[in-house]
Amino acid sequence: MRVGLLGCGNVGAALVDLLDRQRDAIAARTGLRLEITRVAVRNLEKARGVPLPAGALTHDSAGLVADPDIDVVVEVIGGIEPARTLLLDAIKSGKPVVTANKELLANMGVDLFEAAGASGVDLLFEAAVAGGIPLIRPLRESLVGEPLRRVMGIVNGTTNYILTRMSEEGAGYADALAEAQNLGYAERDPTADVEGYDAGAKVAIIATIAFGVSVVAGDVYHEGISGMTADDIDFAHRLGYEVKLLAIAERDDDGRVAVRVHPAMLPKTHPLATVRDSFNAVFVEGDAVGQLMFYGRGAGGAPTASAVLGDLIDAAANRRRGTSANLGAFPRAAIRPIDEVRSEYYLNIDVVDRPGVLHSVSGVFAEHGVSIRSMEQEGLGDEARLVFITHEAQESAMQATLRDLRELDVVDRVTSMLRVIGA
Ligand SMILES: NC(=O)c1ccc[n+]([C@@H]2O[C@H](COP(=O)([O-])OP(=O)(O)OC[C@H]3O[C@@H](n4cnc5c(N)ncnc54)[C@H](OP(=O)(O)O)[C@@H]3O)[C@@H](O)[C@H]2O)c1
Repeated sequence: MRVGLLGCGNVGAALVDLLDRQRDAIAARTGLRLEITRVAVRNLEKARGVPLPAGALTHDSAGLVADPDIDVVVEVIGGIEPARTLLLDAIKSGKPVVTANKELLANMGVDLFEAAGASGVDLLFEAAVAGGIPLIRPLRESLVGEPLRRVMGIVNGTTNYILTRMSEEGAGYADALAEAQNLGYAERDPTADVEGYDAGAKVAIIATIAFGVSVVAGDVYHEGISGMTADDIDFAHRLGYEVKLLAIAERDDDGRVAVRVHPAMLPKTHPLATVRDSFNAVFVEGDAVGQLMFYGRGAGGAPTASAVLGDLIDAAANRRRGTSANLGAFPRAAIRPIDEVRSEYYLNIDVVDRPGVLHSVSGVFAEHGVSIRSMEQEGLGDEARLVFITHEAQESAMQATLRDLRELDVVDRVTSMLRVIGA
């Protein structure tokens, strides 16, 4: 099988290297001999540091896709264009494709699925979500008959690294981010990671595959971690929680889907609370199967190349058999807006320290039907800090409570609000 590779950066070069080391073992186990014969890149002068056949490098990605000698196309360029056009052209010409491109799939995955279905070829994308962790295949195959309720995870290693430094060393957000940047875990412009857009793209793909409906990145509610403080983490610890940036996809009894990314407090005993540093994990809950967790390296050239190679072997084996995996139809999802989502909440507010304050504050909660599970009070000189954990409440009721609390003259400021998940 001759493979055309689009892109030879972190993931592409790691794939060339891994395939070179595994070629004989793959041939022995599957009877398939995979050769990367053409590689499209931007810069032909750049050293790739991996074994490529002489003359394999080209600028001509459209020519690579159209080349009748190429059997399977792997796209690891990233971004929407030219990746979208190249993949559609490959699919239309009857070639199976493998991609790691979360941005493309989270915005127009269903167009690609439909094109692949119409051409009867594979479109495989294990690497697009949680890098080296097998998740898409288990959701698509092993769990396809399972009534899944919720899939939630830590799917961004950069933010998990930052939160781990804040949690374990008491570091502030800015220092933890600078450390992540120095170690190469965070980009110079970290917006996509720290504001939750990267995790948002991944959770849109997860929801699409887990629930069989089309969810796009624009459906995802986002809150990032840039407002997190060392105090928030400290309070969370004192109350028995860890803070994690969670990507959550939920389906309700009416079939509506809620997709969101935000920092959340998780009980320290929850399996996701123990996921440290740049590791990722995805927690799946189904009616029949109960709870499952998938854990591992969610990024990095080699782990991601491992997922690409698994897909490549599958696509090549299907091509040899003249078959393809059936992705199925994906009607547009009915989205449940964030206002209607329910969770428990942690709220930290500074108030003036005088009699009757607690009565006024708790009155605001009661007015919006938000019931308080626990409350702690701490003196701060002339002020007091009140820390509440609520019972489950609807987001709109909590937002109305926050708005009215800010207007009370006894409230100096609402320091933070975090959702509490998994209690
Ligand atoms: N890195 C990870 O840990 C990771 C994890 C999961 C998923 N992914 C996904 O994998 C994909 C690749 O990521 P990466 O980190 O490997 O990116 P990268 O290091 O930036 O590599 C991109 C490659 O694409 C080539 N390229 C760019 N524009 C091109 C064009 N118009 N035509 C042909 N080649 C072009 C570049 O060529 P030059 O080398 O000549 O510049 C480079 O080789 C992305 O979709 C990313 O989201 C990455």
